[in-house]
Amino acid sequence: MIKTEITISRYGTAASRWAGVGPYYAMFPVNFATAAVREYTKPGDGVFDPFAGRATSLFAAASEGRIGLGIEINPVGWVYGKAKLQTAARADVEQRIEWLGKRAKNYRAAAKGLPEFFTYCYCSKVREFLLAARDLLCWRRAKTDWTTMALLLIDLHGKRESALSNQMRQTKAMSPQYAIGWWKENKLEPPERNPVEFMLKKVAWRYARGRLEASEGRVYLGDSQLILARWENNAPKQRATLLLTSPPYHGVTNYFYDQWLRLWLLGGSEKFYSTGEPCKRKFDNKKHYIAMLCRVFTKSKPLLKRNAVVYVRTDARQFTREATIEALETAFPQKRLRDERFSLPAFSQTALFDSAREPKGEIDFVMW
Ligand SMILES: C[S@@+](CC[C@H](N)C(=O)[O-])C[C@H]1O[C@@H](n2cnc3c(N)ncnc32)[C@H](O)[C@@H]1O
Repeated sequence: MIKTEITISRYGTAASRWAGVGPYYAMFPVNFATAAVREYTKPGDGVFDPFAGRATSLFAAASEGRIGLGIEINPVGWVYGKAKLQTAARADVEQRIEWLGKRAKNYRAAAKGLPEFFTYCYCSKVREFLLAARDLLCWRRAKTDWTTMALLLIDLHGKRESALSNQMRQTKAMSPQYAIGWWKENKLEPPERNPVEFMLKKVAWRYARGRLEASEGRVYLGDSQLILARWENNAPKQRATLLLTSPPYHGVTNYFYDQWLRLWLLGGSEKFYSTGEPCKRKFDNKKHYIAMLCRVFTKSKPLLKRNAVVYVRTDARQFTREATIEALETAFPQKRLRDERFSLPAFSQTALFDSAREPKGEIDFVMW
């Protein structure tokens, strides 16, 4: 079993500063992903993650000289991953922020017309800047723009002293109604911010030790089931030595609902309830859930070397655990499940999302 005690210097290297991009649920601890990459692959090998999240596994692979390939359905996780794997130069990002600052005044009227939530959450200068970023950044296509957008998403909400927003959790955006009520009750006004100065300071800290140069990692935006089906006759050339992933946990989160505000900045609806309902249903339906896991693991096979290791971390609760075993055994009948390990980490997805249910921690499955 891998040694997860390796330490990553706190913020002394470029990798340690970029690994934390950005706040996301149920992400791998970076040293766990790094340890798994070191244990099961050699420099130059490929690592595949079909549920990449904020691309922790792919970033660990890149910073260890391996080649990561992944897929993520949630644009927030995808933008973080893209910015970490293909990071724009600092000067380009700084220029883009200053340019957005100049364009922001064109959004004065639009900023006034935003729903009430936004006026309680952000001062007028920030609202104008955010609308400019939302409208003008081509974050799907341009390196400078996906990097700028990822850095903006990190502090879009969080502690009042250190974020662009009024007081809110950094990982989870509250529902507008709840947030407005809470801010009123606690007499909290949005903090006055100069968004350009604020962002330039954040950029200076992030780039202070540089960035990963020439990383070969790639992460695709979309549903793994569809992208893998598309790749069936046209798979990427390099076969991976390690599949390292953590699928969504059954019935726990859909990764869209709690990210509604960041998804708004990426061009989504300003209406809280309209995000992600189809996905939510998918993870709540047992039959769909097992079918989704089976499909993704089975279609991952052509991307792996014959002797590749499959390492999956998931929720230890019975249904998700059994569904994962069923999917893995269906997809990889020639491999043996060699190891199972329970852990009850302080930071577990189950603890975060479903405090009403008894937390059971996570379980790792290793096959080869
Ligand atoms: C447990 S999280 C993975 C977190 C990741 N290990 C990290 O360190 O950030 C599961 C991820 O799977 C994504 N996901 C769920 N269904 C998907 C699908 N059909 N295709 C691609 N990604 C999917 C979710 O959006 C979520 O980001």
